Amino acid sequence: MRKKIIAGNWKMNNDISGSINLITELKKGLNEKTNATVIVCPPFTSLETAQTLLKDSTIKYGAQNMYYEESGAFTGEISPLMLKSLGCDYVIIGHSERRTIFNESDELINKKIKSAIKNNLIPIFCIGETLEEREKGITFDICERQVRNGLEGISETELDNLIIAYEPVWAIGTGKTATSQQAEEVHLFIRNLIEKMYSKSLAEKIIIQYGGSVKPENAKELLSQPNIDGALVGGACLKADSFLKIIEAAN
Ligand code: 13P
Repeated sequence: MRKKIIAGNWKMNNDISGSINLITELKKGLNEKTNATVIVCPPFTSLETAQTLLKDSTIKYGAQNMYYEESGAFTGEISPLMLKSLGCDYVIIGHSERRTIFNESDELINKKIKSAIKNNLIPIFCIGETLEEREKGITFDICERQVRNGLEGISETELDNLIIAYEPVWAIGTGKTATSQQAEEVHLFIRNLIEKMYSKSLAEKIIIQYGGSVKPENAKELLSQPNIDGALVGGACLKADSFLKIIEAAN
């Protein structure tokens, strides 16, 4: 049985006081008996706040991005060592907003995943097709290309903890969720691909989250699919009550 993992990607939202409020409300409202692993990914500027407030909490935290070098002349970038020193366990890599707005290539994403693993950060590796690609009928090809290129040169043991997040780009922030059948079909495809690339045991173990307009109203249906192991939540994680309801739906 794979444990469900519910992660909140805050994106570029919440200053320090907003972050204190949201984390405090989440801590207060979280049912400590929840079966799910809960992760918050605030902006870099609030990671220290997360570190302080989540010290004795079961809630984990991570960053939304990182650069692959450990230090040096990379103005404006944040290294995996810096994230580790803030106590991060996770880092989102290859989010579609990074791929499209900041032109991140599969090759760059591959370097970031390798660097995260090397530095003991668990990557939440995002993939997913655009609306145009879905309409052309090439969803599986796109997902396969992103998985193969993103994991290029990475061994099975290194993938022990890596999480894949399937986020159809057309469902992100649009209110248009993939139906549970549409999502399940791609999740199964990804799992079979991992089996082909690595092994059945890794395929059975790897966590594949769904992301794209996950809300309290659709979470239960999505999370009850056999190959959907969790959610990467955007908009609905910015309010404690809706994020807590999604966590509840994972039980
Ligand atoms: P929304 O839940 O706002 O659609 O965002 C999903 C997402 O991009 C999470 O990484």
